[in-house]
Amino acid sequence: MLARTPPMGWNTWNTFGHNIDETLIVETAHAMRETGLHAAGYEYVVIDDVWQAPQRDAAGALPPDPDRFGGGIRPIAATVHDLELKLGIYSCAGTHTCAELPASFGHEARDAAMFASWEVDFLKYDFCHVPPGASGPALYRKMGQALRSTGRDIVFSVCEWGVHEPWLWGGAVGAHMWRTTPDIFDVWDSIVDIGFTRQAPLHPYAGPGRWNDPDMLVVGMYGQGNVGRGGCTDAEYRSHFSLWCLLAAPLMIGCDVRSLSAATRDILLNTEAIAVDQDPLGRQGWRLGATYHAEERAEVWAKPLAHGDIAVGMFNLGSSDDRLIQVSWESIGLPPDQPCLVRDLWAHDDVGVLTNAAEARVAAHDVAMLRITPTPR
Ligand code: GLA
Repeated sequence: MLARTPPMGWNTWNTFGHNIDETLIVETAHAMRETGLHAAGYEYVVIDDVWQAPQRDAAGALPPDPDRFGGGIRPIAATVHDLELKLGIYSCAGTHTCAELPASFGHEARDAAMFASWEVDFLKYDFCHVPPGASGPALYRKMGQALRSTGRDIVFSVCEWGVHEPWLWGGAVGAHMWRTTPDIFDVWDSIVDIGFTRQAPLHPYAGPGRWNDPDMLVVGMYGQGNVGRGGCTDAEYRSHFSLWCLLAAPLMIGCDVRSLSAATRDILLNTEAIAVDQDPLGRQGWRLGATYHAEERAEVWAKPLAHGDIAVGMFNLGSSDDRLIQVSWESIGLPPDQPCLVRDLWAHDDVGVLTNAAEARVAAHDVAMLRITPTPR
């Protein structure tokens, strides 16, 4: 099965926007090997919007931009594959992309065949400039069918921002993941809105081969680049990454992986958190509850894992004080007297064998992420 666990990789958009070329893609692919990101599971190198020439050619084909991708996409795919990575590309269900370049409406089969001939492994398919009266789900069905007809394994990433509730039909049109919201920005309020607020009801719709996508990571952007805006603190990036792992979200890095800060490496390369995201049971986590203290919110999220383990995130969404946050065994479906090994996935340390509940003191906008393993009595 394709995308049996949530796809992981990197995408040009968050940092580079329109400023992309073949050198950036190849340098990034090398950096993904050198930094250990590939070894940690990040696999897809995705070229987002603005790789295209301004117009289709006389035969109707859509060539890459001659200045920035003059060597063509196929050789980039070859380089990426030599590094044991996979290549992704972008198009749009409308007549033009969101950056006003030619898109795939009415050219679905031709473009799918072209992507397959370039040995592309992933297609992000956006929703700008859809002609009036065209049905969104029908256009995604058409491209899904076109991709399958190529015979190549291509992950199909639907990007219609949650407008037509794609969690209800994405799997049926052959999508492996679907954006559930408008675009993320590199500010804490955006992470709270897109992650904590909007994802809470969506857990029933995800599973192996079909994932809710709360958009790409802004971890490590620090306000730089296309969606940079104000930037976040390392604690905020840690909370963002922890939540995306608990959500079984696709983990698509958006920062420049050629120049990662030490703190960003610690977050993106936290293999214990990644194991929660990639857990073979394939369940999306959900919010157990929220508590308020002087109008400041704390939330506890849980995700069941294979073999009976449970991952828990305790988030302090308040902006001033530390908070003591608890998770009771009862709230995660365990008998209170059940002994459990509790491991702190950011300290990379065992807390101990506990009964009844676990607790952690969590700084403002930070998180404690635990793995709870019931042990024999
Ligand atoms: C939309 C998508 C973004 C990005 C841009 C490209 O806004 O939601 O993720 O792909 O288009 O133009």
